Amino acid sequence: MARSASRFICQSCGAVYPRWQGRCEACDEWNSISEEAVESAPPIGGKAKGTSAAARRGKAVEFVALDGVNQRAPRLKTGMAEVDRVLGGGLVDGSAVLIGGDPGIGKSTLLLQVTAALSRQARVAYVSGEEAIDQVRMRADRLGVKDAAVELAAATSVPDILAAIDRPDGPKVVVIDSIQTMYVDLLDSAPGTVSQVRAAAQELIRVAKRRGVAMLLVGHVTKEGAIAGPRVLEHMVDTVLYFEGERGHPFRILRGVKNRFGPTDEIGVFDMTEQGLQEVKNPSALFLADRQEDVAGAAVFAGIEGSRPMLVEIQALVAPSAYGTPRRAVVGWDSNRLAMLLAVLESRAGLDLAGRDVYLNVAGGLRISEPAADLAVAAAIASALTGEPVPGETVVFGEIGLSGEVRTVGRSDARLKEAAKLGFKRAIAPRRAGEKGGGRTGGGGVRVSEVADVGRLAAVLAGDGPALSRTA
Ligand code: TYD
Ligand code: MG
Repeated sequence: MARSASRFICQSCGAVYPRWQGRCEACDEWNSISEEAVESAPPIGGKAKGTSAAARRGKAVEFVALDGVNQRAPRLKTGMAEVDRVLGGGLVDGSAVLIGGDPGIGKSTLLLQVTAALSRQARVAYVSGEEAIDQVRMRADRLGVKDAAVELAAATSVPDILAAIDRPDGPKVVVIDSIQTMYVDLLDSAPGTVSQVRAAAQELIRVAKRRGVAMLLVGHVTKEGAIAGPRVLEHMVDTVLYFEGERGHPFRILRGVKNRFGPTDEIGVFDMTEQGLQEVKNPSALFLADRQEDVAGAAVFAGIEGSRPMLVEIQALVAPSAYGTPRRAVVGWDSNRLAMLLAVLESRAGLDLAGRDVYLNVAGGLRISEPAADLAVAAAIASALTGEPVPGETVVFGEIGLSGEVRTVGRSDARLKEAAKLGFKRAIAPRRAGEKGGGRTGGGGVRVSEVADVGRLAAVLAGDGPALSRTA
């Protein structure tokens, strides 16, 4: 018996509700819940008539030992080093990869470049559900890849697409741009709803696994509830990458969020130009390119993104507040972390921040999640407050605890080496565990001024001699 019931699904995270409500309790999105018809799937668990007890019992699965001959997943190198690193060394056969990002950020551009590069070694197909053939061709021309052997189609029906790829001589790599435009006929819901997006992805991934086809699904991040966001697919795919960047900034970051075949904290850095995305081999130089030296409120953070050290400038502005509650605004960092850090600076370092607005910006549009950025943020804020620039040619890194202690962070040698490579002479850093303390010279001849707690930061910034070679 077909049921004509409907249910209410959050288009952002997929949570299901019996009735409509304004805000999703699972993901806190507003206006993301919309009505969808319930699919009449066959019931699981044997309620259906004619299912005997024996049939319900199923065929026993076979268990094996944990140690066994492991087949290394074969990988296809895309030929774009930034993409390969984020994927964990290339595209794995039969894997499903979701590439999420805001509309207009450059997902289609990236994937057209990737497919063009891959077409030299494998059969690749690009299915566009959003753009007409002519539009894609024009873009290919602009990117200088129109001679690449990419098989192009404009289609949105999943069964039609599968009919073309589910065959022994089918393509080895398929791009679906975007999954929100795809639909399967069996469902009544409109394309882009959670049910359609999930069903379409499921069908495509099932065939991809069986045929060993690498399936690249594009998913737009959506702000309102009209179409389902990529988050409803994250559990179904092997790899989730997000393509990020600020509109108006040329830099784009490809970030691994989930990867069954590699690390998840890697990033790839690109520059969006007239000729498409250019790989950035030396991101530190790019992020520091427009830096002005000797201005108050700026500090260079020696960070690590995945396997790579990366220097970025952190900028702070502290101004008297015109309102009762001071404003705190952050771009590129965690606002909760800033609130915590301001409290620590106030109570442990005696900085007078109450009644002042604090603005924080990570230059270049990068998002930093490493706790090691704490000390650099503190240095930028302290410098903004006093009006004294952070000493020149200096990088800063270290985690700050609630009692004001500066904690050691991993891979400090790699950070110092990168700083030396870019011509920095000094570093303000935590005391290293197991070491006696005192000033030391780190990788590449960078002189390290060690700070054990934020109370001493102001002194170190002021170039106070004893603090530079502070002992425990
Ligand atoms: P697009 O790949 O269409 O974004 P998405 O698929 O994520 O929606 O990128 C669109 C933007 O990229 C558009 O604003 C123009 C810009 N762009 C360039 O700057 N240079 C280029 O060579 C191309 C193809 C696009
Ligand atoms: Mg697009």
